[in-house]
Amino acid sequence: MARLMSTRLPLLLVWVVTLVGAQPRTSRARTEVLNVCMDAKHHKENPGPEDKLHKQCRPWRKNACCSTNTSQEAHKDISYLYRFNWDHCREMAPVCKQHFIQDTCLYECSPNLGPWIQQVDQSWRKERILNVPLCKEDCQDWWEDCRTSYTCKSNWHKGWNWTSGYNQCPVGAACQPFHFYFPTPAALCNEIWTHSYKVSNYSRGSGRCIQMWFDPTQGNPNEEVARFYASTMSGTGLRRAWPLLLSLALTLLWLLS
Ligand SMILES: *[C@@H]1O[C@H](CO)[C@@H](O)[C@H](O)[C@H]1NC(C)=O
Ligand SMILES: *[C@@H]1O[C@H](CO)[C@@H](O)[C@H](O)[C@H]1NC(C)=O
Ligand SMILES: *[C@@H]1O[C@H](CO)[C@@H](O)[C@H](O)[C@H]1NC(C)=O
Repeated sequence: MARLMSTRLPLLLVWVVTLVGAQPRTSRARTEVLNVCMDAKHHKENPGPEDKLHKQCRPWRKNACCSTNTSQEAHKDISYLYRFNWDHCREMAPVCKQHFIQDTCLYECSPNLGPWIQQVDQSWRKERILNVPLCKEDCQDWWEDCRTSYTCKSNWHKGWNWTSGYNQCPVGAACQPFHFYFPTPAALCNEIWTHSYKVSNYSRGSGRCIQMWFDPTQGNPNEEVARFYASTMSGTGLRRAWPLLLSLALTLLWLLS
């Protein structure tokens, strides 16, 4: 048996190295999805306390992926973060803009979006969020408060004219009331950032949807939500690992035979 091992072991090593090397990089599962920051443009590497977070980003001050600077910039028009111009048609109503600021705070500061982080091949970030289950009231309120504002596009990630250093409406994209481009709350929340959100049928406080707005004196409700979805999703991870585990077991049997 020792002699057999000595001939088979190098073969086995080559095989394992090939197998591991052949795993596509994009499918690399994050080993940890709880209490993490995505690898994007302005996120800290790891979450931690930030005592001085600005205004609407303050709910995350006990544990945040954003710096104080990022939280201040999140409240500005054409900020250094993304040079994004909310007033690309006419001035966005303050009641509407507060939702975009809150959306920016959640995106930049939340350490609870791990279950929805995906790798992307983009120049400005390595990871994004996909299909975050936003609580239905947070989406509904965002949509209702923006009804009096104007825009010229339904996907705000793509297709702008950036020649002046900030986004302007491209030629041919007419400014219209929000509801023209976003006829329903779901159209707004799901489409605006290319499916970063997927409006949930669950309500605020259910523990089954992510809240953009919350009162931090009650803790951060999104911690529980991330834990819930992390546990339902780890099942699919195990199922995907099955072929690998099975072949390893068979190899071991063959080695010991
Ligand atoms: C945040 O940092 C950037 C880059 O260092 C700087 O340009 C900007 O002025 C800072 N913003 C604030 C509010 O300090
Ligand atoms: C982009 O905007 C500039 C002015 O800011 C304008 O001169 C140019 O025609 C625009 N290009 C397109 C493709 O919309
Ligand atoms: C969403 O919830 C409402 C009320 O709780 C229910 O009537 C409806 O069937 C649900 N829709 C889906 C798609 O689960």
